[in-house]
Amino acid sequence: PLPADSIIIVLGASGDLAKKKTYPALFGLFRYGLLPDGIQIVGYARTKMDDDDYKKRISSYIKVPDDAVKAKLDEFLGMCSYVAGTYDTDEGFQKLDKHLADIEAGRDESHRLFYLALPPTVFIPVAQHLKKNCYPANGSARVIIEKPFGHDLESSRELQTALQPIWTEDEVFRIDHYLGKEMVKNMLILRFGNEFFNASWNKNHISSVQITFKEKFGTEGRGGYFDEFGIIRDVMQNHLLQILTIIAMERPVSFSAEDIRDEKVRVLRAMPLIDPKNVVIGQYDKSVDGTKPGYTDDPTVPEGSRCPTFAAIVLYIKNDRWDGVPFILKAGKALDSAKVEVRVQYKDVTSGIFKDIPRNELVLRIQPDESVYIKMNTKLPGLTMKTSVTELDLTYNRRFSDLHIPEAYEALILDAINGDHSNFVRDDELDASWKLFTPLLHYLDESKDIVPAKYPYGSRGPAFLDDFLASYGYSRELDG
Ligand code: BG6
Repeated sequence: PLPADSIIIVLGASGDLAKKKTYPALFGLFRYGLLPDGIQIVGYARTKMDDDDYKKRISSYIKVPDDAVKAKLDEFLGMCSYVAGTYDTDEGFQKLDKHLADIEAGRDESHRLFYLALPPTVFIPVAQHLKKNCYPANGSARVIIEKPFGHDLESSRELQTALQPIWTEDEVFRIDHYLGKEMVKNMLILRFGNEFFNASWNKNHISSVQITFKEKFGTEGRGGYFDEFGIIRDVMQNHLLQILTIIAMERPVSFSAEDIRDEKVRVLRAMPLIDPKNVVIGQYDKSVDGTKPGYTDDPTVPEGSRCPTFAAIVLYIKNDRWDGVPFILKAGKALDSAKVEVRVQYKDVTSGIFKDIPRNELVLRIQPDESVYIKMNTKLPGLTMKTSVTELDLTYNRRFSDLHIPEAYEALILDAINGDHSNFVRDDELDASWKLFTPLLHYLDESKDIVPAKYPYGSRGPAFLDDFLASYGYSRELDG
């Protein structure tokens, strides 16, 4: 773990990510007594601000429900300071180093955790400058970085090649914030800690696995950024694929970071390239009532953009456990509801005594309202042998109502403080995920005649979606 008196340095401290996620998470950890004693937090960014402005900005997304939290927040802000400087010259980083050294004055060792809440264009110069100007002579340094890690295999490798000689894999923590979500972290326990799941977790019993990401809002305000990526790069190649590998992996030898990630990489390597026949894409249009804009109405989006805001992609895993089972990833913006969930649909029971009895389904709802539930058939009580689909339901806010569910960023920053890499993306894992997606992404980027199907803002997605899912044996009967 990071020793007491370490320093966390947030680069990009005046940006959106820092304001919305990093500082609230740091405060969350502080509030629950989880930051090492004596820790200091230093912000660094280009914007010139005085301490008051900085503190106002970093607390703008922190909720203060009562005086006790207010007192904690004041204490927290007392640990925060700010340095302004550029991202591409020695001067700024030398000033930062001097500020850090002043805080560390009189200590034998210096321990620094750098959080790069920065756009990818400055990752490399900042990583280089930190190594050159701010790397402790005696002590330790870690660096947290966040996607996008490139936009295809080649650019991701370029980034890797630039970072590897300066920061070792042990020092780098690549965030995929989905790995910090409570239900995602629960998946290993559910799978390997329950023999009834463990025993049926294979192609003999499971018909399909569907991983769905739905958001209600479009890309308003960040269309320009989004257009360079599209939904597949934005959430599928990373967040949803991470979930898939956890659902599909073999039992790791231990919960150590290397054992877990070895198994995840093995899943990725067993996946054949994605066949474009197993892919559909969509782009949202104006809402039916005309009140919500279409994707291309955003002035920052290039006219005639073919960027997908919706996609459904079917992947396969060529190993004994999963051969032939479709893993359906489905993601979209501007849809009818907001949820992220995994649906493991079992095969039909043998017919004979039953006619058309629904399948079992295990649902892991990641958000909102974490829950695990199993759809199962029960005899309808009474003087009848009719069956009814019921739910064996574990809803967290009922079962665990008195427990605090940490934000993903709280969990991940704490892991980085503790030096635990299990919930961070390893270099070979990143490489394997880009290898899998890059041919499809290039094919979609280059094929001018592939145009995403329009769907109205606020709808379920493109009209043909249900037929597409049904063609992989997915029964929608249970969904909803
Ligand atoms: C980010 C994407 O990685 O994840 C966003 O860039 C998306 O487009 C977000 O909205 C979703 O995260 P969460 O935690 O709100 O589900």
